Amino acid sequence: MPELDERFLTTADALPEGDYVSPGLAVVRLDACFPNLVTGDKLNHPWRYLRREIPHTWYIDKREPLMGFLDRDEAILLYNIARSFKGKRALEIGCWFGWSTCHLALGGVELDVIDPALANPLHLESITHALQCCGVQNAVRLYAGKSPDEVAKVATQHGGLWSLFFVDGDHEQPAPERDVEECLKFAAPDAAFIFHDVASPDVAAALRLLEARGFNILLYQTMQIMAFAWRGNITPVQHIPDPLVPWQLPHHLVGFPVSGAEFPGYPASLRMKAISQDLELQAKAVTIERLNTDLRDKAHLIEQHTAALDQQEQQIRQLREELSQRAWLLRKGYRTIRRLFSAER
Ligand SMILES: C[S@@+](CC[C@H](N)C(=O)[O-])C[C@H]1O[C@@H](n2cnc3c(N)ncnc32)[C@H](O)[C@@H]1O
Repeated sequence: MPELDERFLTTADALPEGDYVSPGLAVVRLDACFPNLVTGDKLNHPWRYLRREIPHTWYIDKREPLMGFLDRDEAILLYNIARSFKGKRALEIGCWFGWSTCHLALGGVELDVIDPALANPLHLESITHALQCCGVQNAVRLYAGKSPDEVAKVATQHGGLWSLFFVDGDHEQPAPERDVEECLKFAAPDAAFIFHDVASPDVAAALRLLEARGFNILLYQTMQIMAFAWRGNITPVQHIPDPLVPWQLPHHLVGFPVSGAEFPGYPASLRMKAISQDLELQAKAVTIERLNTDLRDKAHLIEQHTAALDQQEQQIRQLREELSQRAWLLRKGYRTIRRLFSAER
């Protein structure tokens, strides 16, 4: 595990204007390892879920200006979450130029990374340089491929389960849900997912899927909204949103607890109770459906037996008719023979 290079440690005050980081978090600054990092033009960006109104700097790589990085607040949060998983295995889906990758790896996780962009030499060279510059190249394995298909391949190649997942790959429905479904097959009993861009309902659908599977959920009010979903013995990192921003929660996220924000109408304990009752109801619905299927099968069997009985009754009727016809013929023959005998006499 790499020792944190002192040259990356800094304080919130030393960051450029336009960057915000939550109090209480350790701050690193990796800009020196990303020579093409510049401020992006979010106002003219076409993605409908980009929260242009948040006055935090939106970073991009100047060679590919249409795809964004985690902003400073989000990257520092990611780094601090990774620190709380130090020494554990983690999987990142969607690394782009390795900005999030380096923050995760500096936090001390053993990281596998899946991204089709890694097949592009521009990305591979840039990310390899950044990992070396941060001194974390030995803690990171890169896989040029797409999730969810690549997930099982990577998992079987190295065995073991992942404790932490960072999902920032394909954002269009149903990709985030499919990513999560696949990752769950290889998740440790104590495991957590981090999502970026939960401002998009397509990404949030994956969060709801985890909630339905009994995961706890915590939102982070950052520019693009991050989310932490966990099960088992894990304590989420707390984050305080920038107090200068009048934060709004999109409709599809209302009801989830938000780190550092008090919403008296939505206490987390009540929400957890509602979720567990919902899970019980779902289990009962499954039992009812199974009983209904049994009943349908039995009704079908009864129908089949009734049809067989009808057919047998029909055959019996035919046999009776045949028998009575033969008896009639026999009687007729007998009468004819008697007549012939009496005529001979
Ligand atoms: C927004 S960028 C990630 C940014 C990065 N996490 C950061 O902050 O530095 C999204 C990335 O997801 C990748 N991606 C798209 N579809 C993917 C898939 N099916 N599997 C894995 N990665 C995918 C893209 O190639 C791109 O690199």
